[in-house]
Amino acid sequence: MAGVGVKVENITKRFGKVVAVDNLSLEIKPGELFTLLGPSGCGKTTLLRTIAGFYFQEAGSIRIDEKIVDHIPPHKRDTGMVFQSYAIFPFMSVFDNVAYGLKARKISRDEIRKRVTRAIELVRLTGLEKRRPDQLSGGQLQRVAVARAVVIEPRVLLMDEPLSNLDAKLRVEMRVDIRRLQKKLGITMIYVTHDQEEALAISDRIAVMSTGKVAQVGSAWDIYNKPATSHVAGFIGVTNFFACQVVKQGAESVLVDFQGQNVEFPCVLKEKTEEVVVSVRPESLEIIGKGDQPAEGNIRFSAKVFDTIYLGADLRITLESGSGDRFQVEVNNPSPEDQLEEGREVELCFSPAEVSVFSGKEFDETV
Ligand SMILES: Nc1ncnc2c1ncn2[C@@H]1O[C@H](COP(=O)(O)OP(=O)(O)OP(=O)(O)O)[C@@H](O)[C@H]1O
Ligand SMILES: [Mg+2]
Repeated sequence: MAGVGVKVENITKRFGKVVAVDNLSLEIKPGELFTLLGPSGCGKTTLLRTIAGFYFQEAGSIRIDEKIVDHIPPHKRDTGMVFQSYAIFPFMSVFDNVAYGLKARKISRDEIRKRVTRAIELVRLTGLEKRRPDQLSGGQLQRVAVARAVVIEPRVLLMDEPLSNLDAKLRVEMRVDIRRLQKKLGITMIYVTHDQEEALAISDRIAVMSTGKVAQVGSAWDIYNKPATSHVAGFIGVTNFFACQVVKQGAESVLVDFQGQNVEFPCVLKEKTEEVVVSVRPESLEIIGKGDQPAEGNIRFSAKVFDTIYLGADLRITLESGSGDRFQVEVNNPSPEDQLEEGREVELCFSPAEVSVFSGKEFDETV
C-alpha cells in the first residue's frame, strides 16, 4: 500500500460567517509525513476533515493520486482517519474495534482475521485482542485507534492530534512509533498537531497555519531557522523580538539601530520600512565575561539580569536591555556559576547571521 500524493487546491470552507479554511493550497508528496501545525482554531481539523470527505468545501478541489475526489464519499477516498477524540466502541473487544471497518467492506472472515492480527501487531498490542477499552491504558487505546485506521490499508492516513490525550512521556514514545509505522508502510500521512516540538520531531515537511491560511511550508530545519513571517518565528520555539529603527535599507541587508549601535543584518525585505523586528533565539545569545572579545563579526551589547529559571538541562535567564526590552537567554548544561543574581550587569553577544529580520509593518499585522 504505497502512499499517494494529495493536492489541496484553493480550498475554502466556511461555517456561517467563520472562514475556517481560506483559499488554501498545499501539495503533499507520496509517502511523506506532512504536518499541519498551528494554534487552536486555525482550521487544522476542518482541513483534515475536508480532505477525508466529512466536510464539503465551498470552493476549490481535493486531488488524491491526481484524481479529483470532491464528489466521492469518505469511505471510497482511500483515506483512513484517526480522530481528535479517538471514538473507540466501548463494548467491543480490541479485535472487534480494529475489525469494524473491514466488516463493513464485505471481506472474508479469514482475511479479516489475518489483517486485524497484522494491524494489532504493527501497533504492538498483540496479546490484548480480547480486552475491552475500559481495560486499556490511554496509550493502548490510542494504538487501537491507529490500528483501526491502518487495517483498511488506506494510501493516505489522516491523523488529528492522535496523541493529545496522553501524558508527555507517552506522547514522545508514541510519536516515535507512529513515525516508524508510517515509514514501514510507506504510507502518506497528514498529521495534525498544535505541539510544535512534536511537529519538528516527526515530520518530513510542516505547514504552519494561521487563521485558515498557510504561513509557511518547509522542513523542520527551514521553519525553525528561516521562518517566513514573525508569526512563524514566534510560534515555533521561543524567540526574542527586538524592535529597531532602520538607518539604511539595502536590497540584501538592512542597517539598523540595535541597542544604540549601528548593526547590519543580512535580509531581504519585501517592502520599504522605517522599523524592523529582529528575532534572536535564546540559544543564539551568549553571555560573555567583561574582558572577553566576542568572535569576529559578532554583535556585543549589555543588559541586566531580571530573573533566572533552572530547568535541569538548561538555565533560562531573562534579561532587560538598556532600552527596556525583556528577552531570554538559554544556557545549556549549566554550571553553578551560570546562575546569575538579579540586577547584575552582563555582556552578551550573537552572530548577525543567526537572526531573522521582519518588517515592522508585517509584525504589527500578525503578532
Ligand atoms: N462545526 C462547526 N460549526 C461552526 N464553526 C466551526 C465548526 N467547526 C469548526 N468551527 C470553527 O472553525 C474554525 C476552525 O476550527 P478547527 O476545528 O478546524 O480548528 P483547529 O485548528 O482544529 O483547532 P484545535 O487545535 O483547537 O483543534 C474555528 O474558528 C472554529 O470555531
Ligand atoms: Mg482540531
